[in-house]
Amino acid sequence: MSKPVSISNEIADTKFSEKQYAVAYDFKTPINLTDLDLFTKGQPHKEFREMREQAPIFWHPPIANDVEPGFWSLTSHADILKVSSDPKTFSSQIGTGTMMTLGREDRRHPKLWRSAIDHMLNLDGDLHINLRREHMPFFKPNYVSDLRIKVSAKVTALLDAMEPKGECNFVHDFAQQLPIYTLSEILGIPEADRPKLVTWMEFLELAQYIQVDQMKKEKDAEASNETVSTEMIDMFNNMIDEMFEYGRAILNSKRKNPEDDLLSAIANAELEGQQLSPEFLDGSWLLIIFAGNDTTRNTLSGAIKLLTENPDQRQKLIDQPELMPNFLQECIRMISPVMHMRRTTTCETQVGDQLMGPGEKIVMWYGAANRDPAIFTNPDMFNIERENADKHLAFGIGRHTCVGKPVALMQLEESYMQILKRFPEIHMHGEWKVAPNNFVHAIQEMPVKF
Ligand code: HEM
Repeated sequence: MSKPVSISNEIADTKFSEKQYAVAYDFKTPINLTDLDLFTKGQPHKEFREMREQAPIFWHPPIANDVEPGFWSLTSHADILKVSSDPKTFSSQIGTGTMMTLGREDRRHPKLWRSAIDHMLNLDGDLHINLRREHMPFFKPNYVSDLRIKVSAKVTALLDAMEPKGECNFVHDFAQQLPIYTLSEILGIPEADRPKLVTWMEFLELAQYIQVDQMKKEKDAEASNETVSTEMIDMFNNMIDEMFEYGRAILNSKRKNPEDDLLSAIANAELEGQQLSPEFLDGSWLLIIFAGNDTTRNTLSGAIKLLTENPDQRQKLIDQPELMPNFLQECIRMISPVMHMRRTTTCETQVGDQLMGPGEKIVMWYGAANRDPAIFTNPDMFNIERENADKHLAFGIGRHTCVGKPVALMQLEESYMQILKRFPEIHMHGEWKVAPNNFVHAIQEMPVKF
């Protein structure tokens, strides 16, 4: 009998290639897209524009203190579309579809590292299709329209609780709560356990930062011969352990006693004729709770900022509620909550004028593609009547395109229909806070008055 599929085992020691051809676009920039602090001010749209104009396929230097080579950084809509639509040439499996680097071996959190790899975003071919198929029934129109009834009631309850306050942190009181509720309904997570998911999400958003910060501290301490406190990293590790223990326990119980929910479907899915390995159970758990929460949550909060900065568009939406679907697409285009995905070349190829050899890393910046003037006129302008707003790539495109898109759009629509009816004046009231993270645009605080 063959071993259960484990991509993390297969790729643990993969060596990726340096660029094998001369750069086609001559461009120098001090911008470092691996500097997490850069993203606490929002996405670096000015720098993305320069890159797209000067070098839409830009050879980005490696991450500091990392063992892997640099990567091709893509910022144009056409190039990202091309790469995403050709999974044979641009693999999601041989170097993951998500991670800029597999990282130094001594830095890999044993469970988090494996589970960040062993899930369907990092599969090619039939393996991917087979696992994706198991998820599909929970995103079909009939399922989503039944779910909408519950989501609508939850939105009302959250707004009822907000109303007497007159002001609050919108992330805490609303944006964080709704996606957890919706996802828990799809997954079949008991109500009492749901608050834990909120805490785990906050830690996951800070995961990149905590690891980089610890590395920096250790480097400084080495120079000064001091010992470094591991308090933060220990707390982080404990939280991650708790999250995986919970995931394994609930998936194992759904394997024994399946119900009509997505966790039961995942627990009983098969790859190459075998049930998912423990690593794939962890990975599928991590993917679904992260992908299903964070993305919608940050769009919910980001839309408040857009409405605050664009009062004319807010009024237009209130006057013409039929613009709601396009308003949502325009919000997603402008916010692009998932900032990048990654692919690895499988053979000699060319993107734009740039030749590439096999084994080279590619990072696709969706936020940059979504402000490409070749597709979107006045791309930095928030225009809820934009005719092609839905041509954005924020959900990805091609075979890995977001499976949760209908659920995300349904939640956003239910939320903003009710929010604008009850609190038409809702606006930002103070500074937002964004986590140092270059994978998701993670808004942690959004003070609002209404
Ligand atoms: C505004 C909200 C959302 C955005 C912007 C978003 C974005 C994305 C992106 C960019 C991808 C990768 C596409 C690629 O590699 O080509 C993706 C995949 C995925 N998303 Fe979402 N997502 C959102 C909401 C959701 C929700 C609500 C769920 C689940 C309830 C979800 C579940 C998934 C899953 C499971 C995948 C993997 C699909 C595959 O590999 O075939 N997402 N999403």
